[in-house]
Amino acid sequence: MIIKRKCWTKRVCCRKALQIFKILCLVQCVVVTILYLVIFYEDSNDVQNQIIETFNSEQPYLTTFDKMTFSNQSEKTVAVWTTFFRSHSWLHNINSAFLSCTHKCRAVNEKGALYSDALLFHYQRYDLHVHQLPKRNPDQIWIIYLMEPTIYIERNVVELNSVFNWTMSYRRDSTVYAPYGSFIRRRSDTETKPFLNRTKFAFAVFSRCDDFGKRYRIVRELQKYVNIDVYGSCGHLKCDVRSQGCLSTEKAQDYLFKLSFENSHCKDYVTEKLWFSLKQGVVPVVNWVKGQEETRVNSSHVINLYDFHTIKDLAKYLKSVAANQSLYNSYLTWRQELDVETSHFHSFCNLCQKLHQSTVRRQVYSKFSGWVTNDVCPKYKFVQKIRAWIDRWILFPIGL
Ligand SMILES: *[C@@H]1O[C@H](CO)[C@@H](O)[C@H](O)[C@H]1NC(C)=O
Ligand SMILES: *[C@@H]1O[C@H](CO)[C@@H](O)[C@H](O)[C@H]1NC(C)=O
Ligand SMILES: *[C@@H]1O[C@H](CO)[C@@H](O)[C@H](O)[C@H]1NC(C)=O
Ligand SMILES: *[C@@H]1O[C@H](CO)[C@@H](O)[C@H](O)[C@H]1NC(C)=O
Ligand SMILES: *[C@@H]1O[C@H](CO)[C@@H](O)[C@H](O)[C@H]1NC(C)=O
Repeated sequence: MIIKRKCWTKRVCCRKALQIFKILCLVQCVVVTILYLVIFYEDSNDVQNQIIETFNSEQPYLTTFDKMTFSNQSEKTVAVWTTFFRSHSWLHNINSAFLSCTHKCRAVNEKGALYSDALLFHYQRYDLHVHQLPKRNPDQIWIIYLMEPTIYIERNVVELNSVFNWTMSYRRDSTVYAPYGSFIRRRSDTETKPFLNRTKFAFAVFSRCDDFGKRYRIVRELQKYVNIDVYGSCGHLKCDVRSQGCLSTEKAQDYLFKLSFENSHCKDYVTEKLWFSLKQGVVPVVNWVKGQEETRVNSSHVINLYDFHTIKDLAKYLKSVAANQSLYNSYLTWRQELDVETSHFHSFCNLCQKLHQSTVRRQVYSKFSGWVTNDVCPKYKFVQKIRAWIDRWILFPIGL
């Protein structure tokens, strides 16, 4: 009897164990399949984007109407309808930027929207609510301001079709060009530290650890050949995040180079990372792909990683520049005549100027979503985010 019972329990145990084993196998199978899909599934959208890129014009996204004569006022007003990263203070920033423009312009808050010449909206998800748009006056120009690269835009862009008349962004195909920085005439003397006083090789500032540009991989590879100090919340060194570019100009100029890598490879996407290092007088090393270049900047200002076949070649070149005073200084000669403007708001004079045209063609971005996604980088997808996460936090740490 006892033996029988033992046997019986054993068999149940066995069966239970087998069942658990089966379930575990199944779970493992599912997990591996998902991982496999996420890592190796090729985005059909990438190819599509490349095709769209070849005709590269804003025309297909616009519907144009008759010409409109602007009211003849000496001052144009822009009503700021949304917040800017949830803050209202950009109204003041825009007004201070307007002070230095050739024409007169003024920003007002949303209460002035009824009588303003233009309305300004910030594209960010928390700022722009599609169900809270004002009543439309067809003589007013609705302007969307966007400074984020396509790949990080998580919102549904289709709902914004046929809403905005003008775009304002760092993309050169926007109605109002608003780059992150610009060259200006130099007014004061340059305070560039001499070549011989620069005792350190290169530094980088990373505030986000993972990114679609996979900067962490480039830096790790580069560190095999040269010394790179990494600052920021994702680096081993701390710096003052409130100061432009994190290091003071004095400290930045201890270095020969700064890795001014962008976090993603989108059309014209060149940010203050470039402009800060130009302003601070440290030679920028950039990671621009085709279609991403800043056309006002060339090989006499920056060194581009993608001009080299391998990271090792880049390291070799950097070392040769670091060993040759005249070659190094040739990257800084532009500083004798030019300085850099890096405020987010400096390009509001472009807007002001555009508002002072006597006539404009009425237009609306009827396929705004098409304009946004006409880019060299793919549009945001959750699967890419997971893929990026796996690459950064699973594959990268184990050296893959
Ligand atoms: C516009 O205003 C200027 C002066 O502010 C005046 O000289 C000009 O004649 C005006 N033009 C029209 C079309 O009203
Ligand atoms: C460069 O270094 C020399 C010697 O260490 C020092 O006397 C000089 O003040 C330094 N110049 C600058 C601009 O930092
Ligand atoms: C780079 O651009 C500047 C003007 O911004 C120009 O003077 C210079 O010749 C250009 N250099 C090269 C190498 O293309
Ligand atoms: C240093 O660079 C210059 C170009 O700026 C070049 O003409 C010169 O030959 C280089 N010197 C050495 C020692 O490589
Ligand atoms: C702006 O777009 C709206 C909506 O299509 C249109 O009715 C209006 O005429 C446009 N205005 C201008 C100034 O382009």
